[in-house]
Amino acid sequence: MPGHDPLERLGLHLERVGLADLLCSYTPAAQTSALTDSVIPPGLLPLVELFCLGREVPEADLDPVIVPALEDLTNAGFATRSGPRPTWSIRDLVLQRVHGLWLLAGRPSAQRTLYFGADSLALADRIPLVGGSALDLCSGPGFQSLWLASRGMRVTGCEINERAVHLCGVNARLNGVQDRVHPLRSDLYAELPEGSFDVVVANPPMVAVPPGIPYPFVGDGGPDGFGVILRIIEELPGRLAPRGNAYTLGVAAAGDELPLALDALRSEARRLGLRMRLTVTSEHGAGSGSTWDRAIAATSLSFEGSAVTQSSLEERTIQVSQGYADLGAHRVVFFFMAVAEEQHGSVGILDVRAEHPQNHQGWYAA
Ligand SMILES: C[S@@+](CC[C@H](N)C(=O)[O-])C[C@H]1O[C@@H](n2cnc3c(N)ncnc32)[C@H](O)[C@@H]1O
Repeated sequence: MPGHDPLERLGLHLERVGLADLLCSYTPAAQTSALTDSVIPPGLLPLVELFCLGREVPEADLDPVIVPALEDLTNAGFATRSGPRPTWSIRDLVLQRVHGLWLLAGRPSAQRTLYFGADSLALADRIPLVGGSALDLCSGPGFQSLWLASRGMRVTGCEINERAVHLCGVNARLNGVQDRVHPLRSDLYAELPEGSFDVVVANPPMVAVPPGIPYPFVGDGGPDGFGVILRIIEELPGRLAPRGNAYTLGVAAAGDELPLALDALRSEARRLGLRMRLTVTSEHGAGSGSTWDRAIAATSLSFEGSAVTQSSLEERTIQVSQGYADLGAHRVVFFFMAVAEEQHGSVGILDVRAEHPQNHQGWYAA
């Protein structure tokens, strides 16, 4: 019966008191930055401070109905209660309202291990509603899992980071879809029982990062961007149900051909009997001190905990540019990939590339 689980009740309570209305007034990216005290209605302030702004909030300022949910979050290691006149805090998480779903994920930073971003949303936009079963590889806090389950699918989410596995379970409960989401700690398919799925979705670490450049684990897709994606593809044939489809995305290193890994993809497509369709939405110049190289360099420095000064950024950008150049990459391309079984296997490219798109980091071709 809905509403008996404390976290499910919390989700319903936050909806009822108007937090969803407030958050939905901002784009998902702005929800983590635009909320200032002046725009927050006084009645919602304690909830926004606790769930969105990372502040400590006295228990006396909170509706007692949400305390059991905070206790559950504490037991899962996501909240703390302290002091003789107790205050609650939800350390490094931020609550967002995205496409009608509650999502607790890591507060944006280069050290974040509980990831949600523009790519998460862009991938969800591509998943068709087919019903049946779904596998969410690299599920993180679980946005794709929630999206699929909220549309009636039974979902298994595989994730290597145990904390993210727990957070996916928390998010499923917040949205009342815990009966349809099964979070599993697993290195890709390693711990997954035998079985196939109507939909496989994966937002893995997928940014092409030159060798030797420190980069957040959640994003580092290896030198060509396909390090994890190729591992995912390798086991797809046994995991796709008849007429099943897989969906992923990435930011690949590219030279004159799109992308550098095209030969590897073609040989895997033939070997495994898979049709791969890449849709390339945008490109950024790389390997020559470009804005892209600088962005990778800045993320790399922040990830290490180093100060991003003009000189450290110059130095790291030179390393990044040299790394891309050594690979033969003079650009990176943002792409989606849809994969299905096909007797002889093939790779097709739908190229709708925009150069340096300003919106959504490159996931849309404008
Ligand atoms: C870019 S995040 C995506 C999170 C979420 N699916 C989303 O789209 O918002 C990538 C996730 O993959 C996980 N991951 C990395 N390598 C993995 C592996 N070998 N098996 C399972 N999960 C992995 C990371 O811990 C991280 O949570």
